[in-house]
Order: sequence, then structure tokens, then C-alpha cells
Amino acid sequence: MTQPTRSEGLAELGWQALASLNVGVIVVDPDERVRVWNGWIVAHSGIAEAEALDRPLRTLFPSLEGGYLHETLRAALELGHPSVLSHSLHEAQLPLYGLPLGAQVPLMQHVHLIPLPGTPRHCMIQVTDASAALKREAMLKRKARLLQESLELQHSLINELEHSQDSLELLVQERTTQLEELAGHLQDLSEREKAKLARELHDELGAILTAIRIDISWLQRSLGELPPMGAAKLQRMLTNLDRGIQLKRRIMEGMRPTLLSTFGIVVTLRELVREVAALNQWALTLHLPDDDLQLSEELSITVFRVTQEALTNAAKYAEATRVSIVLSVDERELLLAVEDNGVGINEQDAQAPRRHGILGMKHRVFARGGSFELQKVAPHGTRVVARMPR
Ligand SMILES: Nc1ncnc2c1ncn2[C@@H]1O[C@H](COP(=O)(O)OP(=O)(O)OP(=O)(O)O)[C@@H](O)[C@H]1O
Ligand SMILES: [Mg+2]
Repeated sequence: MTQPTRSEGLAELGWQALASLNVGVIVVDPDERVRVWNGWIVAHSGIAEAEALDRPLRTLFPSLEGGYLHETLRAALELGHPSVLSHSLHEAQLPLYGLPLGAQVPLMQHVHLIPLPGTPRHCMIQVTDASAALKREAMLKRKARLLQESLELQHSLINELEHSQDSLELLVQERTTQLEELAGHLQDLSEREKAKLARELHDELGAILTAIRIDISWLQRSLGELPPMGAAKLQRMLTNLDRGIQLKRRIMEGMRPTLLSTFGIVVTLRELVREVAALNQWALTLHLPDDDLQLSEELSITVFRVTQEALTNAAKYAEATRVSIVLSVDERELLLAVEDNGVGINEQDAQAPRRHGILGMKHRVFARGGSFELQKVAPHGTRVVARMPR
């Protein structure tokens, strides 16, 4: 036995490789006669190699005659033009079927027409199964569509959220305005009630206490020499009565500073600040207008109450040695600042629950359409600043 030559061995290997390729290979000569018909084509066409070899392709696949694939095959053979026919543009170009053949499911395919070098010119028709790639493509398209849909949903949700946030903010704003109006109204009401009570205290209780005082003084004068015990009791009655009258005055002042309606805000403020400063031994810096200001009653009361609360807080918590008050106005605005050089206020304390002083000051100022600030003073201390339209 003679050994096959190297080229004979290679040719054999080539045929085996061609037969086992996982792509279809057909080679036709210039007359379109089949020269190569590999195993893959056999499997997918049902036509055996022996049956196909040497026969014109169009007799094996009559449906090709005059079609696009046939035209491009002619161009490849005559002019040497290669082509690629993808499944997406040219469905089921060759009558090939998926496996098992009996199911007759047309094969989705990509067809490459590759003119081979050499004369006469042959053409290789290479066929690949495009089903998997196309399935993947379809799945990717579906996923892209789902992604697009979920993106659109997300966008519409964000829009809805923004919209409801806007309406919520609007609602909160509305409610805040309503509450501020209500707070302002209640404060005005309470001021009016206090003023009424103060008037009644003055007119009724004041008259009764004064009448008693006059009578006791009369008794003291008229009864002449009294036993020491009686004289002492009478004197104690007078002293207690005077205390009662003082107390009534203090209560009345707290409810409705009489100075305010008689002398106006500047004088009242000066008196209030001096009294509290003396009580707490504070050095005092006052920047008040020289003349009285023409303010509405509500605005005067607000200025008075804010100053009163700021001073009370300074006395209770600040451990200050100096307090300064600024009251200034221009055509449009009034500015009130009460400053101490004490320990300073921290934010948690300022917002602590069940504390009403700072909240009350804020509400009073907001109800007059103004702005309110608590500021830290360097190096230490607290400044309460209120600005209100005149
Ligand atoms: N001038 C200040 N210096 C230091 N701390 C202050 C000053 N003013 C207020 N504070 C702190 O802020 C807190 C809140 O004050 P706010 O006036 O609201 O309430 P309060 O004085 O404790 O109680 P209320 O005024 O209701 O009787 C105080 O408890 C105190 O700790
Ligand atoms: Mg307070």
C-alpha cells in the first residue's frame, strides 16, 4: 500500500471539514452547476450530495428562477461581485428547513455569495442559520421596548409626584397663611379682651377699693385715740389695701399698658426697658426715635409684647450684663431689635416643645406681615429682630 501524498491528505481533510461544517456551502460553476454540496446543505434541504452534484442549482431549487438571489448569483459569477443577503431583508432565500426536516419550518438564513478566484469563475454560496441571532435580536428588541415602557412609566410617576408635591406645598402654604391669620386674629381678640378686663378692673374694682380706702382713712381720723391693738389693725388694713391697689395696677398694666394709649409706643417702651433693666441690673443702650411714632394700635401692641417677651427671656436665661434696644422706622418699615450679651441661645432650646414665648413673638410679627429672626451675637448673646410693614 502506498501512503497518500501530503496534498492528497490535505484534500481529504478539507472534504471532511467541509462536510462537517456548521454552515451550508454550495459551490457552483459558471453554468450554475453544483460542484460542492456539503453535509449541512444535505441535512437542511433533504437533497443528497450525489443527487445534487453536476445539476444546475435552479433545477434543484426551481423557486430561485428569476428571483433576487438568482440575479445576485449571476452578478457574482459574471462580474465577480460578492453579496450578503440577510434574513431581515430577504426572507427564506433558499428552500431550506429547520431540523427535523419533516416539520417543514422554513429556515431563517443569511446567505453570502463569494466569487472564488480562478478561471473559469466559480461562486461559493455560504448559508448560516440566523434563527438564534434573530431570536436574540427579537428578545433584545422586546427588552428594549419593556425598558422604554418602564422608563416612560418612571417619567410619568416622577411627573405625578412632582405635581402632587407642588399641590402639597400649595396646601401647606395655604394652611400656614390661614393659621397665621387665625393666630393674628386670636391675638387681637385676646388683646381686646384684656383691655376690656383692664377697664372693668379699673372702673369697678378700682372704685370699690378707693371707696374702702376713703372710709378706712375716715375711721382713722374720726375714731380718735384707739387701743394700740385696734390702731395697729386699722393700719394693717390700710397697708394691705394699698398692696391690693398696687397689685390691681400691676395686673392692669400687664393686661393693657395704660402708658401706651396715653403716651404712645416710644415712651412706653422706654419705661418698660428702664424698669426691667433696673430690676436685673443691666447696663442699657437705647436707640429709640426722639418723637413718638404714629403707629396703629395693633402694631404698637405687637412691638410692646415682643419687647416684653424678649426682655423676660433675657432676664430668665441670658445672665446678661448689658441689653440694647433699637426701634427705628422709615416710610415703609419698622425695625425692632432687642439684644443681650448673655450666654446665647441654642437652636434646640429655641424650638423646644411647650415653649411659647419665641413662637408667640413669631406669630405676632407674622400676623402683621413681618419677618422675625433670632440671631447669635458675637462673642456671645442673643438678638431678636422683627421687621414689620408700617
Ligand atoms: N435671650 C436668651 N438667652 C438664652 N437663652 C434663651 C434666650 N431666650 C430664650 N432662650 C432659650 O430658649 C428657650 C425658649 O424660649 P421661649 O420664650 O420660647 O420659652 P420659655 O421662655 O422657656 O417659656 P415661655 O416663654 O413659654 O414662658 C428658653 O427656654 C431658653 O432656653
Ligand atoms: Mg419666654
